[in-house]
Amino acid sequence: MSRYIVKGNSKLEGEVNISGSKNSALPIIAACILNGGTNILYNVPNIKDTNGMFEILRDLGCVVKKKGKKIIINSENINKFHINEKLMREMRSSVIIVGALIARFKNAIFSYPGGCEIGARPIDLHINGLKKLGINISENTRYIVCKCDKIIPAEIQLDFPSVGATENLMLAAVFTDGETIIRNVAMEPEIIDLQNFLNRMGAKISGAGSNIIKIKGVKSLKEVSFNIMPDRIETGTFLCYTAMTGGKIKVNKVNINDVSPILMKLEEAGCKIEKKNDYIRLDGPKRLKAIDIQTLPYPGFPTDMQSIFLSMLTTAKGTSIITENIFENRFKCVPELVRMGAKISISNSCAIVKGVRKLVGAEIFATDLRGGAALIGAALMAKGTTMVENCEFVERGYESLETKLRNLGVDIIKER
Ligand code: EPZ
Repeated sequence: MSRYIVKGNSKLEGEVNISGSKNSALPIIAACILNGGTNILYNVPNIKDTNGMFEILRDLGCVVKKKGKKIIINSENINKFHINEKLMREMRSSVIIVGALIARFKNAIFSYPGGCEIGARPIDLHINGLKKLGINISENTRYIVCKCDKIIPAEIQLDFPSVGATENLMLAAVFTDGETIIRNVAMEPEIIDLQNFLNRMGAKISGAGSNIIKIKGVKSLKEVSFNIMPDRIETGTFLCYTAMTGGKIKVNKVNINDVSPILMKLEEAGCKIEKKNDYIRLDGPKRLKAIDIQTLPYPGFPTDMQSIFLSMLTTAKGTSIITENIFENRFKCVPELVRMGAKISISNSCAIVKGVRKLVGAEIFATDLRGGAALIGAALMAKGTTMVENCEFVERGYESLETKLRNLGVDIIKER
């Protein structure tokens, strides 16, 4: 695995253009299976996870080509319904392909996507919803086999507003001969982007962004081109990196509405923020103020920003309390931050962060995507140099991170 070597006492200054959203691109890439034609996607981030999704589609028989910033996906000749087990294990969000395969072929075989460092990440909500749509699901220790003659429209109530389950069921219900209603759905902006993509193909879906989505089945879907929305978590990450280093940044190509919970908390911590059209300016204070964070489903504070805020608050003035309500194991970066001199104690789903004056550079290990991004933030602030190992985790979700940081005045190199 590779590592980043980061010189501390950085101060981010300048401008950065935000890439397309990883968590919008992934379900939309899967949805390209539905119409058996050629779809063109723009603003897809060039990161490990989207390239992993392309590999899975190619393995199923799709042709995926990259032409500059254009991704051309042809799904006409899909010749198998068994999602490659190794590829699936590498990226659990590939479970989203199941809904698309079932909708088009009434058939899908896949293996449990497996948990990862942030929690068990079961798929019971996906499975229960698919069963409600009349899909027969048989499970053995290795595979889950989904089959049906016809997908029937249904009324589904999600026990939890799961993003992936919402997306999977939207895809699975797109060709029924009636109306499917899903209640207690996720309201994240990426769900709205997926609805916009599907409706552009000719689907009849409404309600994304609210807690009830209705899908009126259609007979077929046409070929489209589509521009992926900006990545709200990358936006928040650069704003936090600037806030924690007392820098000054202009973040371009953003959706301001998607990041309001993040902006509110950054202002509460003492940042000066100007937002207009598709850009945000942030001036970081000399020292941040401690704040409390509760992660919640959208429009609450996003769990994907939790580790990065936690890292940022290790040097704030005062004690911050961070409560993680979405995943059961999303404080994995804490021991690494403590090795840098942070004062953090964990009790159940809460991290109590007592602000210290300065962190000290060390050799630290990333164990997941956002935890890794949090460690890079700590390295930017620390005294001395920090080696952040396993940077492949970070490259799953951030396009050209080193280049973007270097252009903002950071001394960072990738080794190995
Ligand atoms: C999506 O994951 C995102 N990934 C995650 O971003 C994000 O953290 C998460 O939504 C929450 O916002 C993508 O969009 C590719 P969930 P997903 O289903 O769909 C439990 C990142 O860093 N649950 O909303 O897997 C689950 O265990 C990634 O970019 C069940 O119990 O999240 C978790 O505790 C990390 N049963 C909670 O719900 C299920 O069937 C939220 O999971 C499904 C989920």
